[in-house]
Formats: sequence, structure tokens, C-alpha cells
Amino acid sequence: MSELKRTGYQNFGSFFTESVEVLISKAVSKDYTPPLKPFQTHDILAGLCDSQPLGKGARELFLIDFTKWTFLNHGAFGGVCKPAHVEATRWRLHCETQPLTFLDRELFPQLVRVIKELGSFINASPKDLVFLPNATTGLNTVIKSCDLGPCDVMYMLDIGYGSVKKMAQASALYSTHSSPADVEELPTSSTPQVVMGHVDFPISGPDQIIEIVAQTMPQNTKLAVFDAVTSNTALVLPMKQLVELCKSRGIPVLIDAAHAPGQLPVDLHELNADYYVANCHKWLACPRGSAFMWVHPDRQSKIRPLVISHGSGCGFTSDFIWDGCRDYAPFLGVSSALGMWQALGFDRCRTYCQNLLRDAVDLLTTAWRSRTLAPPEMCANMALIALPEKLAEAAEQYILRASSLHSDNAVSGSASDHALHLQEVSGDGVEDVARDGVEDKTRDGVKDVTSRQIPWTGAATSTDAKLVQDILHHRFCIECPVKCIQGILYVRVSVQIYNEMGDYQKLGKAIKEVLRAL
Ligand SMILES: Cc1ncc(COP(=O)(O)O)c(C=O)c1O
Repeated sequence: MSELKRTGYQNFGSFFTESVEVLISKAVSKDYTPPLKPFQTHDILAGLCDSQPLGKGARELFLIDFTKWTFLNHGAFGGVCKPAHVEATRWRLHCETQPLTFLDRELFPQLVRVIKELGSFINASPKDLVFLPNATTGLNTVIKSCDLGPCDVMYMLDIGYGSVKKMAQASALYSTHSSPADVEELPTSSTPQVVMGHVDFPISGPDQIIEIVAQTMPQNTKLAVFDAVTSNTALVLPMKQLVELCKSRGIPVLIDAAHAPGQLPVDLHELNADYYVANCHKWLACPRGSAFMWVHPDRQSKIRPLVISHGSGCGFTSDFIWDGCRDYAPFLGVSSALGMWQALGFDRCRTYCQNLLRDAVDLLTTAWRSRTLAPPEMCANMALIALPEKLAEAAEQYILRASSLHSDNAVSGSASDHALHLQEVSGDGVEDVARDGVEDKTRDGVKDVTSRQIPWTGAATSTDAKLVQDILHHRFCIECPVKCIQGILYVRVSVQIYNEMGDYQKLGKAIKEVLRAL
């Protein structure tokens, strides 16, 4: 009966747990005792250690069907690791055994526990950190809270995430009552001005990015937004220097770090940005629907949640911890994902991925006599590798060939049907990727292939890119995005701990087979 006390309701919390602001304050104190989990989780990480084999040996830690797929696109939507998935599933089951016990009495202390665990991983105070379902929600929250008016400037680079520009433009909708479909048609006088620094390729290195920003960011910028790692071009941007540049000009800076945690070491205290938004469900391999927003203490009072609920106005954590009744299990699953990375050794995993990326780049650029879009120091777990020049033409021929084989059998269908059909008739007679031993200058032992004398502009289109990606997907069961940048086709390869050289060899063989159609 010791839990039965006659206490009143104070500030925002559940009716039956302490105020959320008290919970979060306790989490920063030295004698914080995390709440016990209502079920065992020790088995989830049992046996995981820093000698766990990576590559094929790490595949048992993920749910992706590696028996069918060569998965080179972790960068798109991530892929959950088993420990996090199992923990989230257990929380869901636990919730349903007595929803009131979980939602009313256990949820907030448990969420605060995981916020604290995440804070330790990224060197941030739990008080400055809130969970959100995805990076998009965080970006919208910050941009909308900045109240960009018609004369205000938001600055970004033109390699930044596509929807961010729309977010700034849409902030004008709330004052003009236009419908979202009108975003791009609004008179420019009624929307905030989005100034974009132009990044042209080739790019020599991070200093070039700083130079572009220094020269093109207007002094009256109300908010600058930078990707930690760009999406389409997979460039690691020089965050620290960009934050310092903005601070030196008094410009608030939002870091869109959707790709950073799990791919790069994150130290938010050291970075000292104004706003930082990131996904857990991408490179940390957490359950889908887990992301976070960090806001500098000086900026928190101006940040408003997109969804107003009971905690509104009661403090930063209270504002965001509850946005209505829904599934909070993805956030709780973050705990076991962090446990997994710690057990495997986060630095060891990073080194594995970096080395594998370097070897994959070496293999494919040599085979295709091509180059990467960015110099090695601007790559983490992803790189864009230029595809052979004649590939767009070859892909067309490849489909035509498949199509004629198909029509011989009097069956019609889409390009992907044709590609599938070819799979049935062509067998797997591909040779090893050719290696021509081209010498390139090295930078700290990493081959710099960006200097190769091949064109930086071409005539390929995004339709060509889609066709090649479709062929890889349907014909070869290779999931790898193809991008068209300045008229050149590139594959954007990802490296996660479950990948190994054989995956990139398969990609090389697949492209070689398509080229044979010429
Ligand atoms: C740079 C960047 N920002 C934002 C996002 C959006 O992430 P989400 O869809 O999880 O909100 C992405 C997604 O890939 C991204 O690459």
C-alpha cells in the first residue's frame, strides 16, 4: 500500500506520475535512478560483444532479407536492428496487457530514461532533447517556430534536403490561408525569401562549402539550415565550421542531421548549434518513427510544438513528450539499439564501414574507370560513384532486348516486367569485375579518384537514373539508388555493418551485364 498517497496534480505529468519537468530534472542529477523496466530485456543484447563478426556475420542482427536482396541503400530509410525491434515489440505487448498501467503510470519515466541514454550517446543534456517521430517533424517545428515573415531570409545550400525550402514557403500559408497546393504559386512577396548557395561539381573539399556559404549567406538571414550529410549527394558538410560562421554573424543555425547519428560521431555540446534535428531510424537502426530534436537552452522558450496537447506551455520536455495517444514503442526501442552499438563498439563499426567504403569505391571506380562525386574526406558511410558513360544508352538497349524476348512470347508489360522476364531467360553468366590498375594520387592512403579526367557534366536524365535503378532492383535484386547530377549518372552506395565486398562486386557485375547490351 506504500504507493497509495494523497497527492495533488502538479504541472504536467500523467495523473499518476511526477511532473514531466521534475522527471527530466531528476534525470540530469547525479543520483538519478532509472526506473526498472516492467519486463526482462537482458536476453536482447546477450552474447553481443566487440568481437561479433561484421559483414555477413552481422546480418543476423537485422531483419532485411539478405537471402534475396543485395542491400546497398541503408541511407534511404534505414533498416531496424533486431535488438531495437524486439524491445519495441515487447513494449507494445506490455502496453496491451494493461494499457492504463503503461500509458498512465510507466510511460513518462521510461521515456525520460531513454532520453537520458540518448543524451549520453550524443553528449547532450536530457533537458535539451525531445523525441519526435521523424526529422521532417523536427525541421517543420523549428522553421515554423522561427516565424519567417515575407521579408525574412532563410538560407540553405542548393544540395540541401528538398522539402526544407517548401517548409519555409509554407510558413507563409498560415498567414495567407492559402492551401498547401499553392506553396510554389504564392507571390514571392508573400513568402519568406529562401536564398540558396549554389554548389557546383567538382568540389575540392569542405573548405569550398565554407567559402560558398561565407560569400552567399545574406547578413539579414533569420535562419540558416545545413545538412550534416546531404541526402542526394551524400556529402559530409563541415558542421563545426558552418556553425561557427553563423555564430560569428549572429545568425541562428539549424542542423538537419537526419543522416548523422550512427554514421558520424555526434557531440552536441561541442557543436553548440542553435537547433539540431536527427533521425534514430536511419543509421542508428532504431525502429521507424524515432527521431529527436535538440534545442539550445537559450532558444527553447520560442519553440512551439506542431501538435498542441496537455503539456503545452509547461516546459520544453512537457511540450513534446506527449502529442496524444499513439504508439510510443519506437522511442523505447532506441535503448536496445544504443546498447547494440555500445556492445559492438561504435568506433569499431565506423572503422569497418569506412574501410569497406574505401575498398568498394576503389573496386567500382577502377572497374568503371570513373570517380566519386566527392573527395574521400567528405564521405562517411555513403559515396556517389559515377557510372560508365554509356550506361544510359545500354540500359535502353537492355530493356529493348528484354522487351523483344518478351514480345516473342506474346506478352506485353511494363519495363520492370520486361526486366523480370530477362531474369528468367538470361541466367547468371557474368564475369568478375575488371580491374585495370589505374593509378591515382593518394591522400592519407585513401585513393582520391575525384581528380580523374572525365567530364563533370553529361546528357543523362533522371528518367535514365530511374531505369537503371529499376533494372538493378528487378533484374538483379540489388537495392541501390541511382542519381543524376549535372547530367551524369551515379550510384549512391551505402555501407552498413551487414555489408561486405561481395555486395559491391555484385553491383559491378550487374552494371557490366547491362553494358553488354550495347
Ligand atoms: C538530409 C535529410 N533531411 C531530412 C530527411 C527526412 O527524414 P524523415 O523522412 O525521417 O523525416 C532526410 C531523409 O532521408 C534527409 O536525408
